Amino acid sequence: MTNQKKSLVHWLIFAVSIVAIFSLGLLAASILERKTEAQFAFTPKVEINSNESRNEVWGQNYPREFQSYYQTSDTSFRSKYNGNAMIDMLDVDPRLVVLWAGYGFSKDYNQGRGHFYAITDIKNSLRTGGPTNDKDGPMPSTCWTCKSPDVPRLMERDGVAEFYSGKWARLGSEVVNPIGCADCHDSKTMNLRISRPALIEAFERQGKDINKSSHQEMRSLVCAQCHVEYYFDKTKKEGAQYLTLPWDKGKKVEDMEQYYDEIAFSDWTHAISKAPMLKAQHPDYEVYTMGIHADRNVSCADCHMPYKTEGGSKFTDHKLQSPLNNVANSCQVCHRQETDNLVKNVYDNQDRIISKRDRLEELLVKAHVEAGKCWELGATEEQMKAALQDIRHAQWRWDYTAAGHGSAFHAPVEMGRVIASGIDLAQEARLKLSQLLMTLGFKGEVPYPDITTKAKAQQFIGLPMDKLIQEKEAFKQNVIPKWLETAKKREAAIPVKKI
Ligand code: HEC
Ligand code: HEC
Ligand code: HEC
Ligand code: HEC
Repeated sequence: MTNQKKSLVHWLIFAVSIVAIFSLGLLAASILERKTEAQFAFTPKVEINSNESRNEVWGQNYPREFQSYYQTSDTSFRSKYNGNAMIDMLDVDPRLVVLWAGYGFSKDYNQGRGHFYAITDIKNSLRTGGPTNDKDGPMPSTCWTCKSPDVPRLMERDGVAEFYSGKWARLGSEVVNPIGCADCHDSKTMNLRISRPALIEAFERQGKDINKSSHQEMRSLVCAQCHVEYYFDKTKKEGAQYLTLPWDKGKKVEDMEQYYDEIAFSDWTHAISKAPMLKAQHPDYEVYTMGIHADRNVSCADCHMPYKTEGGSKFTDHKLQSPLNNVANSCQVCHRQETDNLVKNVYDNQDRIISKRDRLEELLVKAHVEAGKCWELGATEEQMKAALQDIRHAQWRWDYTAAGHGSAFHAPVEMGRVIASGIDLAQEARLKLSQLLMTLGFKGEVPYPDITTKAKAQQFIGLPMDKLIQEKEAFKQNVIPKWLETAKKREAAIPVKKI
């Protein structure tokens, strides 16, 4: 070969190699891209604004998460004590009516169901009454705070304190989408976010920045926006009932009790005993922090939002529910035991805790009725004071263990301890009351009321149930349809930009 021919061949080899390498590169890039597509199944279809409250709009970009979220509408599963069907707790346990005499919960109280129903259920509850206009009804607007992604939208629009001002009915046509995407996610990054100020403020008062929490902590803190104990602070701004978490001294039952005692806060005055009462809301997060799983860094999402695989892609199951309906994904990723065994562990803990809790309830009913008798016989405030304080503390302990429906599993040992101390205090109250009854000249035993059914118990405390139900029916017929119509028009006017 001549030199000229040789160099031509070299050039040819070089050119072919370049083309081959380039094509391989292209192929690799395309494989990688497909793989990424399969992994995230992500093809954005619409632009999502910050504080977009319509779950359906987010659902267009994230169909798997949306569809699984939507399944919180399922009400078919029941476990021994919980599950995703609504349970009328006053029916199951009429003693509750007497414990809450003088307070809204004695009218109506259900074991909750899926996030999908949050808006429906707050409207239907007898506790929100039958308001006829914006300024009417028993509840403040603050009651919407844990129900909807419309809440962060309105807080941004109107200001936080303004949101907490006025009556519940004021926001009926604004808060319409049930708990959803914007409550837990940033629309641009899809990172978990804290959308509720009360939790951020509770951290700040303890000198902590919630935004510095770890990823694993966030997988529980998004739940702690709502599944916590709280109260309404009426001293912060005129006319506002400012949602506040009483965590400044800690999250244990005694810490929060001390907090409330120091500011002389009470949720209501008991209708029979006149004790200054505390209502525990649902301290699920606080109680969870005292259990072994929190100690081992297991998050709420690990058990209630496990991973799920569908069509080759892995994603977070947004059907938030009792993990007992999904033991394989919720528990068996960590535990090797059989399903039956794990379920039995849960039930055993619940049986033990709930039987002792029932005993405490019975003692509390007796204490309220005996205190009522003392008033009837002319006891003075001074004579009653110490016993009423014991009743307050005993019932707070009972409620702290009863108000979270998962607590008997989340932290069984702590729940046992709290109930035991509640029993002590209730006995203490009854001892004081029995001495006072003797001083007042009463002999014998104050009879236990006939509260074998919800209806009998409500009659015993003098609730006008027929009237309450009528008001609610009128509200459902006349007010709710108008709220929905206004909301529909308002939302239809917000454009959704296609990509
Ligand atoms: C914006 C407030 C809010 C947030 C955030 C929230 N929840 Fe809820 N959750 C509720 C309300 C309200 C209900 C009751 C709904 C009803 O009964 O209508 C509920 C109900 C539930 C139930 C009962 C479902 C059933 O089928 O019985 C579970 C379990 C639950 N939540 C777990 C969680 C977990 C875990 C998180 C965090 C990943 C979380 N929630 C975040 C407000 C919230
Ligand atoms: C109660 C809080 C909560 C709500 C409400 C919620 N998510 Fe999530 N979401 C989570 C958690 C927790 C994760 C897991 C995040 C992690 O570990 O990084 C998650 C993960 C995701 C992811 C990441 C991919 C995956 O599946 O892990 C997407 C996308 C997502 N959610 C979309 C949505 C959409 C759409 C909605 C509304 C229909 C929604 N989420 C409502 C808590 C929530
Ligand atoms: C992410 C891992 C993880 C998941 C998910 C998990 N666990 Fe655990 N569990 C643990 C660890 C760690 C311990 C502590 C045991 C130890 O360290 O030896 C524990 C302890 C327990 C115990 C003994 C302590 C007690 O409270 O009685 C029971 C029972 C239990 N788990 C049941 C369950 C059930 C039921 C589920 C599902 C609803 C579940 N676990 C989900 C990790 C997990
Ligand atoms: C180790 C697993 C595990 C962790 C972690 C966990 N839970 Fe649970 N949770 C359970 C089990 C098991 C039950 C009992 C379910 C039953 O009785 O059907 C339960 C019950 C509940 C219930 C009542 C469910 C119903 O059907 O009404 C709520 C609400 C709840 N948990 C919220 C939370 C929140 C909020 C967190 C975090 C702060 C959390 N859980 C952490 C396993 C867990």
